[in-house]
Amino acid sequence: MFKVPPISSARLPQLLRAMPKAELHIHIEGSLEPELIFALAQRNGLSLPYASVEALRSAYAFTNLQSFLDIYYAGASVLLHEQDFYDMAQAYLRRAAQDNVLHAEIFFDPQTHTARGVPIETVINGLHRACADARTELGVSATLILCFLRHLSEESAFETLEQAQPLLDKIVGVGLDSSEVGHPPEKFARVFARCRELGLHLVAHAGEEGPPAYIWSALDVLKVERIDHGVQAVHDPALMQRLAQERIALTVCPLSNQKLCVFPRLGDHNLGQLLDAGLAATVNSDDPAYFGGYINENFTQVFAATGLTARHAYQLAFNSFEASFASNADKRVWEHRLKEAFERCVEHDD
Ligand code: ADE
Ligand code: ZN
Repeated sequence: MFKVPPISSARLPQLLRAMPKAELHIHIEGSLEPELIFALAQRNGLSLPYASVEALRSAYAFTNLQSFLDIYYAGASVLLHEQDFYDMAQAYLRRAAQDNVLHAEIFFDPQTHTARGVPIETVINGLHRACADARTELGVSATLILCFLRHLSEESAFETLEQAQPLLDKIVGVGLDSSEVGHPPEKFARVFARCRELGLHLVAHAGEEGPPAYIWSALDVLKVERIDHGVQAVHDPALMQRLAQERIALTVCPLSNQKLCVFPRLGDHNLGQLLDAGLAATVNSDDPAYFGGYINENFTQVFAATGLTARHAYQLAFNSFEASFASNADKRVWEHRLKEAFERCVEHDD
């Protein structure tokens, strides 16, 4: 393992921004900035229940996950055409490139759109074209993960999988998101088993607001490879041991956790506890347009609030590449670039 050189705390924010990283937990609908919501509404001849961009942004005061989801699904209703999905993903990928994201695995919620009569191919083709263009125009690698909405039925998830079947070469995996409490992973056991047979990678949100039991069943029943959020694992020592031993990555989203009141203050976040217990935690933005920052803001703010070090920074970025669904060859190249960024930082330290 690379020995992380000493780096002064004054230089740490700059290093956090400059270091190469992967983003593994970003809902593309959660990257829709109010300005783009208004522009798409105008382009599509839709009216919004907010008078201005500022009025919409000022409605972003959340008390829990559900209070956010209500406004997030309303925002996504301006997306109608393939170009709308392309523009949304292009805007995110350009922003991610500025934050030195080399690779992004992007969640999307097809049922939010198909329920409004938007065909699934419109969604997937628009997002996929933006991912392909990001590789050539930005040098960013980007893939798609289709998420099932857990507040809807198993039948609806199966129907969505069937609609997506002709387009499966454009996605790398499936996930599970939306309202967690009251919708345990077991509800989707059969549809995840089918996705596994189809050779898709599997992830699920678990332990964001829900109990450690949901993390256990995401692992044992759904057989997921990563846990999205997972911060409630600290309440179950046996689970912590399992996650550490099996190097199951947690895609942690600090600003999301703060804005949805999972932790009262960012300084109370348990990211350091997860890392120090040997868990493969990563840092991600979740829904950056709603939670006050893209991935580098998540890094700099949680480090400033909790006093994490350069060693944690290296571990988080390394984990993000290691836990991705990219090829081993790509991972080695990115991890090499990560080491170089740390070495460069030391050369310039005084
Ligand atoms: N969909 C978008 N963001 C989410 C989150 N933080 N938890 C569950 N579902 C989501
Ligand atoms: Zn999420």
